[in-house]
Amino acid sequence: MSTWRKKRSVMRRYDLTAQLYDRRYAEEQALKYRAAIEKLCIDGNSRVLDVGCGTGLLLSHIAEAELVVGVDVSGKLLLQAKERAKSFRNVHVVRADADHLPFKSTYFTVVFAFTVLQNMPAPLETLKEIKRVAVLGAQVVVTGLKKAFSLAVFRELLENAGLKTVSLMDEDKLKCYVAIGVQR
Ligand SMILES: C[S@@+](CC[C@H](N)C(=O)[O-])C[C@H]1O[C@@H](n2cnc3c(N)ncnc32)[C@H](O)[C@@H]1O
Repeated sequence: MSTWRKKRSVMRRYDLTAQLYDRRYAEEQALKYRAAIEKLCIDGNSRVLDVGCGTGLLLSHIAEAELVVGVDVSGKLLLQAKERAKSFRNVHVVRADADHLPFKSTYFTVVFAFTVLQNMPAPLETLKEIKRVAVLGAQVVVTGLKKAFSLAVFRELLENAGLKTVSLMDEDKLKCYVAIGVQR
């Protein structure tokens, strides 16, 4: 399947199940957010990007930042994220492809991609695009769904992307490995 056809089929799948997303996944995602956020430093100077933000479940956890931008390819999920963003003056959502982020280089100080890489045709390219928009020293949080990646493959992906991994969690209660890397 071509890259774009794969992305379009993923997008349609999320559009079709958008109404069920929070009911199915909110609890599971919250565990991952907690595991990562307690290890990060996000404050009023942080510019945060949430790649593949879905319905915006993460947004309220990071709203103390100066700016939060959520990006997703699914219009239906993004409608829910837009509703969530309305509660915060500094949170915005944009429809875009994770491989072509509509932002200048070296801008964000924190970037998240929770449970996104398994959807991407070329996860290494996605990580490189995430790195492009991150400042030197930025905190980059990426998860690897255990069903889709072995720990060795996920570790190698991070390494090949040139991220310096400072923490890699593999907790039984999480369905993903949660990696915290630093842009170098
Ligand atoms: C399992 S959901 C995770 C959503 C969110 N990060 C969360 O924690 O709930 C995967 C998300 O990746 C998004 N996604 C898939 N392919 C994408 C792409 N090419 N560009 C941007 N987002 C994409 C989906 O629309 C979906 O919102």
